[in-house]
Amino acid sequence: MKYNKIKKKFINFFKKKHHKIFKSSPIINKDNSKLFFTNSGINQFKNFFLGKKKIKYTKIANIQKCIRITGKHNDLKSVGKDNYHHTLFEMLGNWSIGDYDIKKAIKYAWILITKIYKISKNKIYVTIFKGNKNYKLKKDNETYKYWRKFVDKKNILFFGLKHNFWKIDNFKLCGPSTEIHVDIRNNKNLKKIKKEKGYNLVNKNNKYIIELWNIVNIKYLIKNNKIYKNKNLLSNNYIDTGMGFERLCMILQKKESTYDTDLFTLIINKIEKTLNIKYKINNLQHDFLIKLISDHIRSIFIIFYNNILPNNKKYGYVLRKLIRRCLIYTYKILNINTPFLFKLIFIVYKIFYKKLITEKLIKIKNNLKKEEELFFKSIKYNTKLMSIYFKKNKYILKNKYINKKNILYVYSTYGIPYFIIKKYAEKYKLKIENIKNIKNII
Ligand code: SER
Repeated sequence: MKYNKIKKKFINFFKKKHHKIFKSSPIINKDNSKLFFTNSGINQFKNFFLGKKKIKYTKIANIQKCIRITGKHNDLKSVGKDNYHHTLFEMLGNWSIGDYDIKKAIKYAWILITKIYKISKNKIYVTIFKGNKNYKLKKDNETYKYWRKFVDKKNILFFGLKHNFWKIDNFKLCGPSTEIHVDIRNNKNLKKIKKEKGYNLVNKNNKYIIELWNIVNIKYLIKNNKIYKNKNLLSNNYIDTGMGFERLCMILQKKESTYDTDLFTLIINKIEKTLNIKYKINNLQHDFLIKLISDHIRSIFIIFYNNILPNNKKYGYVLRKLIRRCLIYTYKILNINTPFLFKLIFIVYKIFYKKLITEKLIKIKNNLKKEEELFFKSIKYNTKLMSIYFKKNKYILKNKYINKKNILYVYSTYGIPYFIIKKYAEKYKLKIENIKNIKNII
């Protein structure tokens, strides 16, 4: 099933169930909370839940672009290294604001994934909140009872706060959640991996057991880490759900990685052509680089699209960081030090939008190119300054050795990554200290 069809089926399903379909809100979060980017579907509806805004609709669904690079939800470090974490993803969500309860939410989810998307029932595991003594929260037996109508006992598991209670600092709303996990092993890959029972692998970071859908029963408020009930607020049924779109595509398209779905194929093809490398021909470094760029370029595009420009403040800083990560890794792995990211913009646009707004796209493309040029110019300039520093440094001249202190100085003063300092050392026949243990210097 192609990604557009998967989206359409989700929207149509909830339309038929009388949900109002909302647009994705901007990824720049403007609600004065500490939240940087929109990081889940509920962000734009939060004030309806809190009774601060009146809403005409009590049943809502949407597809929300989310960015998880900062704060508690920060997936940046996993990107490129595993097969399914992303800085930007789309979240398919449905909400009940004082309308249907957890029983109905479970029923909707079950029908959608088993009847519409046709995910095999015996590949599905469900997790439920087991309670917590510190917060005086009870085991969620109610949810267990509903799931038992559809799911075998052995495929239902209980977990604690970490996995099955949705609470985010500063978000005010919270509640127990129930998650749907899918076993994507098939006859082919089952041979490669231990024939362990799927339910033993849930929430164990196993790449074949994928967390797909989180259904939260918003029951409580949270302030200064105290969870409490409020007589007036949240007295009815409040449901908040979120399903990872990229992961759903991966499951329905029978792939082992989100990067192998049609959401990424065109972007990856373009990167291969642009950088003259190939994906998945047993070069792990190239695969890492391709995954990293194909992930980051989606976030880069969407941040630009929200009218942010690269700079040293807040959103602009994150944008700059993403661009630089792509360029530095490409320079390091392929020795390419000329702008290329801007060439990917048109392909990325097509994944997210149907209509082509040429003027805006050209602007994004030009701004990205400008930022890439600026980066390489500053690397070149700062490398010169580094060289002057090395040539004057008595310790280095005497010992023909660049030590950790020198490396850190050059990195923090001129922003020169380790691999460039190493290149310099090779060129001038200097020895250099191995700094494997220092993070983030690349
Ligand atoms: N808000 C919940 C989450 O982010 C469900 O949408 O997982």
